[in-house]
Amino acid sequence: MHQRMNSTGTKLLAVCIFLFTIISTVLAQAPKTIAVETNNNALVLQTDKDNRLNIIHFGQRLTNQQEYGMAAGQYHFSDNNAGIYSNAYTPAGTFSLSEPAIAVTHADGNTSLELKYVSDNTQRIDDNTSLTAVTLKDPVYAVEVTLFYKAWKKENVIEQWSVIKNNEKKPIKLEKYASANLYFNADNYYLTHYHGSWAHEMNPEEEQLTHGIKSIDSKLGTRADLFEPPTFMISFDKPAGEDDGKVLLGQLAWSGNFKIECEVDSYNNLRLLAGINSYASEYQLAAGQEFQTPSFIYTYSQHGKGEASRNLHHWATRYRIVNGEGSRLTLLNNWESTYFGFDENKLVSLFKGAKDLGVDLFLLDDGWFGNKHPRNADTAGLGDWQENVQKLPHGIGYLVKEAQAAGIKFGIWVEPEMVNPKSELYEKHIDWVIRQPQRPEMYFRNQLVLDLSNPEVQNFVYGILDSLFTKNPDLAYIKWDCNAVIYNAYSAYLQKQGLPQSQLYVAYVKGLYNVMHRFRAKYPNVPAMLCSGGGGRVDYGALQYFTEYWPSDNTDPLERIFMQWEYSYFYPAIASSNHVTDWSKVSMKFRTDVAMMGKLGYDVDVSKLDPKDWEFSKHAVATYDSVKDLVWHGDLYRLVNPRENNIASLMFVDDAKSRAVMFTYLITSRFGQTSTLAPIKLKGLDANKRYSVREINLYPDTKSWIDGSHTYSGDFLMTIGFNPDMSQRRSSVVLEIKEVK
Ligand code: GLA
Repeated sequence: MHQRMNSTGTKLLAVCIFLFTIISTVLAQAPKTIAVETNNNALVLQTDKDNRLNIIHFGQRLTNQQEYGMAAGQYHFSDNNAGIYSNAYTPAGTFSLSEPAIAVTHADGNTSLELKYVSDNTQRIDDNTSLTAVTLKDPVYAVEVTLFYKAWKKENVIEQWSVIKNNEKKPIKLEKYASANLYFNADNYYLTHYHGSWAHEMNPEEEQLTHGIKSIDSKLGTRADLFEPPTFMISFDKPAGEDDGKVLLGQLAWSGNFKIECEVDSYNNLRLLAGINSYASEYQLAAGQEFQTPSFIYTYSQHGKGEASRNLHHWATRYRIVNGEGSRLTLLNNWESTYFGFDENKLVSLFKGAKDLGVDLFLLDDGWFGNKHPRNADTAGLGDWQENVQKLPHGIGYLVKEAQAAGIKFGIWVEPEMVNPKSELYEKHIDWVIRQPQRPEMYFRNQLVLDLSNPEVQNFVYGILDSLFTKNPDLAYIKWDCNAVIYNAYSAYLQKQGLPQSQLYVAYVKGLYNVMHRFRAKYPNVPAMLCSGGGGRVDYGALQYFTEYWPSDNTDPLERIFMQWEYSYFYPAIASSNHVTDWSKVSMKFRTDVAMMGKLGYDVDVSKLDPKDWEFSKHAVATYDSVKDLVWHGDLYRLVNPRENNIASLMFVDDAKSRAVMFTYLITSRFGQTSTLAPIKLKGLDANKRYSVREINLYPDTKSWIDGSHTYSGDFLMTIGFNPDMSQRRSSVVLEIKEVK
């Protein structure tokens, strides 16, 4: 009996093993489908027969999640390459011969990498936010990659990054380590990217992508966006318009060297790779260590660039920039009115003007420091952050107090990452400076960059900020500048540590973020402007530590109309510092109106203003106070594009659609083209509400041509439109649109 039971048991066991093998084989081969969804969109990943992870859908989400799994079967690309191209994180050296997302040299010198799906999980962070992590592993070498996708439902934004882990026994080398590897299927692709130079930021170029790779990149190290920012759009099928067309707005959130690659493959699909530039940046990853890439942030809309940009604005104000849903300080800056030529009496004399103007804060710019090498020009003193005793004998504390006595707050400019060779810092700590010891130094604006890969230097830079705030707890604002690029990249610190020089570019930015992070941890609420000789460093990597950015040193309002327009696709108006200056001689009203489309500031000597301009400006600050909430927290609608017309027009509408402010500018003086013959169609209002339209921010002694007593339905204003009656005498018009009940 015992024996019989035994043989029955053995048979049962054999059947069980057989069934288990069948089930596990089926399970192993059943593709795993992972959908990263927002309210409107989905990015869908799926394993293939070899257990590699591919992208099978990007675009509009399906009502029924279960159906995603069938998407891949609908494409009949004729050979294996199709699957290869769509890989969600393409490794180099094995099955794929496409441009890789990741390339690794293992501890034993082998250069092959294969990544197979291991597991995934999606964590609900809150009602609006989820985080999906997908882990991939090389079956032969102990290297693991986790792909992270953070999705914000309402804003339709995805933030994506990768973590690469070295589980080998010795260091491995990362040759390339992208943040994102995406895949799109459309008839055609149109890339909009930007180029610029000092005072000439954000010039767009749109081109149809052809087969092969188009890349945009930076190798400048710091001030990385001087030529090209890591910011772009891709339109699918046809160039997207403001309110129509499929478009992705994307950015690598990284303040250093980046590379965005767009490859149209042989099946006319688009592969997108975004990450740190691998140029001179091989990274050594020690055993047991992991490397986290920066984030690639993107949104997708099927209704044009306008909606896509509002997605980003909502996301940035709610989740990214400091105090995005809060308020900002209007200010008077002294840079263009004094440059380096001031002393404390001069500054104190300016405080009253700031107060009378009605702004919240006085911002002291460059030139307040350095004693052995006074900072009286941009040739000396950078690095020596002690008040210049000649200019400021009573120190910053005195200025803070005097400003407070005048009824305003006080803020200050720093450029803490940099050094002039003519400085005590350079004399004492040449080993802290990025420079090739055996080559002649190369300067950018007469200065060099400090080596932020060195923790001692990080402490020094943090100490500059910390000591300013510790000594002056009432200091209310900081402008953080960065004027030089990295020439002659070489770190004495990395050399000493036995670390490869190729880590400098990455270690620099990590060191920089470390300092910014420490600053924010201790001073979470201090408003701070991100500046880099203008807009040389505007990205969401740095902006998570700042309340605002400086778009450009060029404050000519005509130029600013174009620049601010382009920046506005990616950043909310509350973050755009716009100053009224004497850069251009167009009317004070025109200059002010343009500056009001963001965070208003002034950089003029108010005592020298013509009396009418002065009177106007005081009213303008008060008017701004009454509409700033709309500009900072409303929805932006672009109405007339200055690149396509002689007019620029846009409006901000509040959530309730009960109030809006509309800015319109005439940007030509050519004969016959200086009036608005046809009305401009408004957007974003409620068709069923009635509105009054009133001109605001008028120059003294001018009468508006607009009869504010009429009311119009939202339907009328959005279908027929409204004519702001532009002419050469009315080249800048601000309208307030208000619900009438
Ligand atoms: C840079 C900034 C300017 C100003 C100067 C000071 O150029 O962009 O706004 O602060 O530095 O040197």
